[in-house]
Parts: sequence; structure tokens; C-alpha cells
Amino acid sequence: MEKLTGKVAVVTGGSSGIGFATAHEFIKQGAKVVITGRNQESLDKAVKELGNNAIGIRADASNVKESEKLAEQAKSIFGKIDILLVNAGGVEVFEPIGQITEETFDTVAGVNFKGAVFTTEKFVPLLSDGASVIHLASVSAFSFNAGNAIYSASKAALVAYSKNAAIELADRKIRVNVVEPALTETPGIHKGAFANDEIHTHVKTLMPFKRYGQPEEIAKLITFLASDDASFISGAEITIDSGASINVPLKF
Ligand SMILES: NC(=O)c1ccc[n+]([C@@H]2O[C@H](COP(=O)([O-])OP(=O)(O)OC[C@H]3O[C@@H](n4cnc5c(N)ncnc54)[C@H](OP(=O)(O)O)[C@@H]3O)[C@@H](O)[C@H]2O)c1
Repeated sequence: MEKLTGKVAVVTGGSSGIGFATAHEFIKQGAKVVITGRNQESLDKAVKELGNNAIGIRADASNVKESEKLAEQAKSIFGKIDILLVNAGGVEVFEPIGQITEETFDTVAGVNFKGAVFTTEKFVPLLSDGASVIHLASVSAFSFNAGNAIYSASKAALVAYSKNAAIELADRKIRVNVVEPALTETPGIHKGAFANDEIHTHVKTLMPFKRYGQPEEIAKLITFLASDDASFISGAEITIDSGASINVPLKF
């Protein structure tokens, strides 16, 4: 049976990777989905692949005015939103402590934290009672590696915001949860600091299952959280990483 029949979902950053796979799964489960992204061409391509139950709206999540406009457009089309996946982001710029630039801070925190917060803020008035909000953080919110301070900090800050939102929106029966994947095979991980096949070959050997996650695996967890099957789950921080973040490799 379809789990999301009659629901309306918004997926920020839905034209690629985890967002796209989740939009696909939401639609498979009966939802109508609005996806967003900055690049109109990628958005159009994704909407074409997702089919009639998808709509694309161009919006930069790091721009508060654009998030406000996105919420207004979603309201004029659907009135209410039942599922909000705050997923746009993912900028990893490796800079060591002592060399972190203001530009990196503004870019990374601008989408991963400020952008995620104001996307949520602008949608709160539109959420139906009993809605599900899912914030995409990362295992980097609580497990750390050199050079990644601002990405980690921006995801940790998002986790804190998300848990506050879970408490404050509970009187409307709105559930708010965080999903924390480890490296997942998306176009995003082959850009910037990770645009190097050798790094990936090495990192995969450190993963418990000797592979990365697949976007579809993350999408299944998000779809569960979005559905009524997760009706008593709120304020949770759910790691999806094959055990990578609890595995501290010791050399003997
Ligand atoms: N993949 C991983 O290993 C991994 C692990 C842990 C957490 N995550 C998190 O999962 C989320 C998705 O990552 P992904 O790997 O699926 O990324 P991806 O394949 O690079 O896709 C990113 C999506 O977000 C959109 N986007 C990026 N910046 C945006 C902005 N400012 N405003 C609106 N849309 C924006 C992109 O479209 P445009 O470029 O057209 O805007 C695209 O649709 C991110 O929050 C990331 O931090 C990923």
C-alpha cells in the first residue's frame, strides 16, 4: 500500500542526489512533490524524470527572500504542505583551523544552517497539523575530520535548531527529525574537496561495508519518517552510515 497518498511534499535541493531519490520515492508512495534547486536546466530535467506529480520551483535556499517566495508559491498551488524535506546544501570546503575564510563560512553556513533554518521558518505557517519536517544533516555533525570544521559546525547547528523545532511544534503534532548520512554516492561528493577518485577508493576501504550509501537507501529512511508509520518519532537524530561513525579504526 502507498504510504503517502494525498500528501504534498516540498524537497529543497530535489534535482540531484538524496533529494532527487527522495522525491522519486515520495511520488512512488502517492505524494505530490515540489522540488527546488538553483539551476533551472537541472530542475527541468529532474521534473521530466519524476513525471506528472512533480513541480519544479527555482529557489536559492541560502537567500531568505527566495525561500519566502518559494513558500508563497507553494501556498498558492497547494494551500498546505504535509512534508518538508530541508535537504539543499552540501558544500564541503576543506580549510584547516587558523585558515578558515569568511567566504567559506558564509557559503557553507549560509546554505547548511542559515538556509535550512529560514526554509523551515518560512514554511512553518503552511505546514498542516501532523506534518513531518526532516532536516538533512550528516554524521559530520558529531564525528570530525581535519579541515571540515565549518561543514561540521553548520550541520551540528542545524541539529540543535531541529530539536528546538520538534519541541516547539509539538502542540500542532508536527514531527521534526534529523537524518545523518555518512558518505552517499551522489553527484555532490565528486565536487570540490572530494573531486578525486583516489580519495574515494581509499575512504571506501574504511567503511564497514566497503561502500558508500546509495541515495535510494537514504530516501527510504526519509520516506519512513515522512509517513504515519513514524507517528511517535519526533526530535530524533537518525544516523544512516552502516556503522561507520561508531567504528574507530585502531591500528595494532
Ligand atoms: N552525499 C553525501 O555523502 C552526504 C552525506 C551527508 C549529508 N549529506 C547532505 O545531504 C544533502 C544533499 O546532498 P547530495 O549529496 O544529495 O547533494 P547533490 O547531489 O550535490 O545535490 C544537491 C542538491 O541541492 C541543490 N542545491 C545546492 N545548493 C542549493 C541552494 N543554495 N539552494 C537550493 N538548492 C541547492 C542542488 O541543485 P542546484 O545545484 O541546481 O542548486 C541539488 O539539487 C546535503 O545537505 C548534504 O550536506 C550528503
